[in-house]
Amino acid sequence: MGPVFNGTSCAECHKAGAIGGAATDRTIALVRRIGGMRNGVYTDLTELGGPVLQARSLREFDTTCPVEAEFVPRQANFVSHRITTPLFGAGLMEAISAEEILSRTKKRDVDGVLGVANLVLNPETGQTEVGRFGWKSQHSSLHVFAGDAYLNEMGITSALFPTENMPQGKPIPKGWDVVDDPEDEDGDVEKFANFMRLLAPPSQRIPVTPQVRAGERIFQQIRCSACHVPEMRTGANAIGALANQRVRLFSDLLLHRMGEGLADGIQQGVAQGDQFRTAPLWGLSRRNLFLHDGRARNPEEAILYHGGEAKPSKDRFLRLRDIDKAVLSAFLRSL
Ligand code: HEC
Ligand code: HEC
Repeated sequence: MGPVFNGTSCAECHKAGAIGGAATDRTIALVRRIGGMRNGVYTDLTELGGPVLQARSLREFDTTCPVEAEFVPRQANFVSHRITTPLFGAGLMEAISAEEILSRTKKRDVDGVLGVANLVLNPETGQTEVGRFGWKSQHSSLHVFAGDAYLNEMGITSALFPTENMPQGKPIPKGWDVVDDPEDEDGDVEKFANFMRLLAPPSQRIPVTPQVRAGERIFQQIRCSACHVPEMRTGANAIGALANQRVRLFSDLLLHRMGEGLADGIQQGVAQGDQFRTAPLWGLSRRNLFLHDGRARNPEEAILYHGGEAKPSKDRFLRLRDIDKAVLSAFLRSL
């Protein structure tokens, strides 16, 4: 294990229990991702401690540790604050076929909405695959995300990510990384992936009242559903519980241009600075922080920050009568 990290367990940031692994506390479950521009080319700033900063060091446990927590280097042009995404239903999201996701990328709709798939390298298969996890759909599988998190959040190397994160890009002082890489010898990363694969999806709150149903109709009418697609289906799957299921996640898992107000400048895969994955809305009522940096405290506030491709839809929301806004809120709060 390297001397710098962000958390000591997955559950520290992905709280277990009712909130299904979402961020609840901005002071803990918020990581900083950095990026820079050099001669017009985007860089992850790996040599300076990027792309994810580790905000803690072993000095917390041992005052003789010479390595400090990482700070934002002055060469960083972009700093993105990212809160934890929830993990509920993650296996179902993984089981949706790439074809199903790609089927919605074909043409721009009446509002100018055009979803783009993130295409990312899967270090396990060596293939370019359709991304679906993370705020920019930057990973295609739970196994890879678990390996990435083990390395970048907890400072532990594994077969998929065998190279230690150098603190601020500098070599680790002798004696402060004593285990040979890869450190995960028991296949813990695979176990994390299997655990997440079988987390149940959050259910809509019952009873589903006529008001909630009316709210879902407004959600469709003002075309929130152009991106927050109510339902997708999984394909064939070796795990019976994940095969041929309806997945009511309210996302197309595609990237959309969300305007300057939300842009964080960070590029991941094909995702540009202003592009984000349509955030799945299932489990909304179990959460208390919204949008990639947790700036919104409730779903309605999150809508107000929508720009870019989502602006026509937001403008229709703003023009709703108060009574219809209340009905839409009832629907969002039932999820
Ligand atoms: C320091 C806090 C922290 C710790 C510890 C942490 N995570 Fe995360 N996790 C995050 C953040 C922040 C994101 C969103 C990252 C992004 O998209 O930029 C995330 C996203 C994820 C996602 C993507 C889910 C989705 O649907 O988008 C998975 C999977 C995940 N983490 C798994 C894990 C596992 C497994 C562990 C333990 C090995 C772990 N995480 C430890 C903060 C943490
Ligand atoms: C053009 C696509 C698009 C449209 C249309 C759209 N959204 Fe979104 N929505 C997104 C994206 C992308 C995000 C994530 C943005 C971010 O985190 O920076 C998001 C985030 C959200 C969130 C926060 C969820 C979370 O996990 O933090 C809520 C709530 C939401 N949208 C509701 C709505 C509602 C209600 C409408 C209709 C008025 C709507 N959206 C229309 C793309 C869209």
